[in-house]
Amino acid sequence: MAPFSVDVEKCKNDGICAMACPAHIIQMKSPAGVPVPTEDFEEHCLACGHCVSVCPTGAFSLTWLSSEECPSILSELAINPDQAEQFLRSRRSIRNFQDKPVDRDILTRLLEIACYAPSAKNNQPWHWTVVEDPIKVKRLAGMVIDWMHSVIKKQPEIAETQGFSRVVSDWDGGKERICRGAPHVIVAHAEKAYNFASEDCALALSYLQLFAPILGLGACWGGYFYTAVNHYAPLFKALNLPKNHRAFGAMMIGHPQLNYRRMPLRYPPRITYI
Ligand SMILES: Cc1cc2nc3c(=O)[nH]c(=O)nc-3n(C[C@H](O)[C@H](O)[C@H](O)COP(=O)(O)O)c2cc1C
Repeated sequence: MAPFSVDVEKCKNDGICAMACPAHIIQMKSPAGVPVPTEDFEEHCLACGHCVSVCPTGAFSLTWLSSEECPSILSELAINPDQAEQFLRSRRSIRNFQDKPVDRDILTRLLEIACYAPSAKNNQPWHWTVVEDPIKVKRLAGMVIDWMHSVIKKQPEIAETQGFSRVVSDWDGGKERICRGAPHVIVAHAEKAYNFASEDCALALSYLQLFAPILGLGACWGGYFYTAVNHYAPLFKALNLPKNHRAFGAMMIGHPQLNYRRMPLRYPPRITYI
């Protein structure tokens, strides 16, 4: 079966699909001038959907993706540079959360958008484990503290560089610095042997963190949390992650308690033009 079909009534024979294809597996060689697949199409197709999304007339459909299934990009929804700049510059790590859980539908929507992040060869290697129960989040945060205690004991120099003693004494004093009282934690995990898992998961989590405020949510990377997941077997087990996986990031999620009013400055970019 052909891997794609072309509506000859709609096709303008412009070769745009072939031009956009990252794997060069669409050719404009047929007598009718419509695109045809190379012999090794199936082997090399990234399933990125460029061919379907770039066709100006909606003539191109993959067997698994029709142009009708792909929502149009609406120019009236495009944001201008000032809006984009404020959106990007105003993102904050949120560490104060309301005592109110987030609906599962909203968490799912967040993750659906996270999956639009770029990934090497469009592999989309991420898996998501959502700790939905706030009581469980607290219990897991306590396990991170247990791990920190063991590092302080066995590898004091590492504990020192990571500032674990202070985090632990804050915990003892009632200040929770692991999950910051967030009702939920989302862990991005993937096969540990996969080369690009780290980059891909981080990018997906960035998408998630950027979309969160649009849904009225706050998010913060849980660096201590996912490091502990990978170093403390009881925590890895409590999350029920597959044995061949590794956590590549974690995000605290909840309804923010505070509103931020200003955008602080960053270091200027350290650029070398060559
Ligand atoms: C990989 C990574 C790990 C992080 N881990 C934590 C963490 O464990 N706890 C925390 O409160 N913030 C954590 N952060 C958030 C950073 O502290 C925060 O991004 C930084 O201070 C800049 O602030 P902003 O995100 O509000 O711009 C982490 C961020 C990254 C990228």
